[in-house]
Amino acid sequence: MFIKVPKGTQDILPEDILKWYHIEDMIKEILNKYGYKEIRTPYFEYTDLFIRGIGESTDIVTKEMFTFPDRKGRSLTLRPEGTAPVVRAYLENRMDRISKVIKLFYLGPMFRCEKPQAGRFRQFNQFGIEVIGTKSSAADAEVILTVLDVYKKLGLKNLEILINSVGCKKCRVDYVQKLKKYLKDKKDFLCSECKERYNKNPLRVLDCKKDSCKKIIEIAPVITENLCQECESHFSEVKSYLNDQKIVFHEDPRLIRGLDYYTKTAFEIISGGLGAQNAIGGGGRYDDLVEELGGKPTPAVGFAAGIERMIIAIDQQKIKWPVEKGLDIFVAKVNEKNKDTAFRLLQKIRNTGLSADMDYSEGSLKSQMRIANKIGARYAVIVGEEELSKNMVIFRNMQTKEQKEIKIDNIIDELSL
Ligand code: HAM
Repeated sequence: MFIKVPKGTQDILPEDILKWYHIEDMIKEILNKYGYKEIRTPYFEYTDLFIRGIGESTDIVTKEMFTFPDRKGRSLTLRPEGTAPVVRAYLENRMDRISKVIKLFYLGPMFRCEKPQAGRFRQFNQFGIEVIGTKSSAADAEVILTVLDVYKKLGLKNLEILINSVGCKKCRVDYVQKLKKYLKDKKDFLCSECKERYNKNPLRVLDCKKDSCKKIIEIAPVITENLCQECESHFSEVKSYLNDQKIVFHEDPRLIRGLDYYTKTAFEIISGGLGAQNAIGGGGRYDDLVEELGGKPTPAVGFAAGIERMIIAIDQQKIKWPVEKGLDIFVAKVNEKNKDTAFRLLQKIRNTGLSADMDYSEGSLKSQMRIANKIGARYAVIVGEEELSKNMVIFRNMQTKEQKEIKIDNIIDELSL
């Protein structure tokens, strides 16, 4: 029995890699256009970063982190998300000195020990953007417009944008009191986790996916009716920027998202056909996180999207992927005696910048031609004894099957296809 991949992880095979290149190229192209610079942070961090950053009572921190001690007993965690690490890097590298507002993006694997199901993995890839250093509502709108631009460029349609404001430190205190008051006599009907959330972090009850809790939440007081003046105006400004750009969105006053760092704007993008795991991306403002992680008060806003879910959505919407560009030249040999000449020729062709390959399995010419066809080679150069004695090779168009003898010295000219 061979060993299989760990539960919730998957191989990205050569036959699928073009999809990843395509998406990654599009992301980089669009994000460059919007002025974002790439940052790469480690795949693991000290556990405290996520506890302090994401919030002690979130599902991610209580149940989903891959945490392990290093050899000196310090607790490390595979990053479950990218925002806390980016803020850590921002502070550690004093990026505030580079410019007042920093726009960063990242692309790479994240790790959450969730129950695997369609669209939900334990190792998955995110692309994310973070704008650190501005409280401007235009930045919130820009983050949303940026990701919509990426989705649009990939051809994705039927996306629903849900948007909410989760208030700030000031107005949230009053709202939480109201919510607690509302939940007090319904506590017995909440799930066991929400009973705990009620005491520790009642806002998290709003994020419960259990039917029994959902029913109670449905008629709970909503945060948007309890915003302070500043949060209220910020929210209307974001919405008016989006309206101005003709972006259709839905307000969802119960959207609070799974991470505790959000303030003011929170949003999620949903793709219809994805079933239960329909959030293709989400984000929001996090004005207190930099300070909570030891920096000066610094407002920020960002977003992240799951790349596997984007791929599933693209496939479901039957959007065509770019086709693989076949090999330029396949070098074949009539028999093994010619293999050194063939090998030399192969390198010479590659040195011109064309893609070329040959078969090392000592197969017949017929089987080499089969391989050439399979890998989509446009031309074959066939090295045979008879031709070699005249310093020639056979040059074959794999599509038309036409072939001719050409001088080895002219091969490069001939290949200026
Ligand atoms: P998040 O909503 O936890 O936000 O994750 C963002 C996206 O990552 C989700 O919408 C989903 O597409 C994808 N995702 C999450 N978990 C999984 C999983 N187990 N399997 C597959 N895909 C998954 C964040 O991570 C925040 N850091 C976003 C952010 C950036 N907020 C501000 N800046």
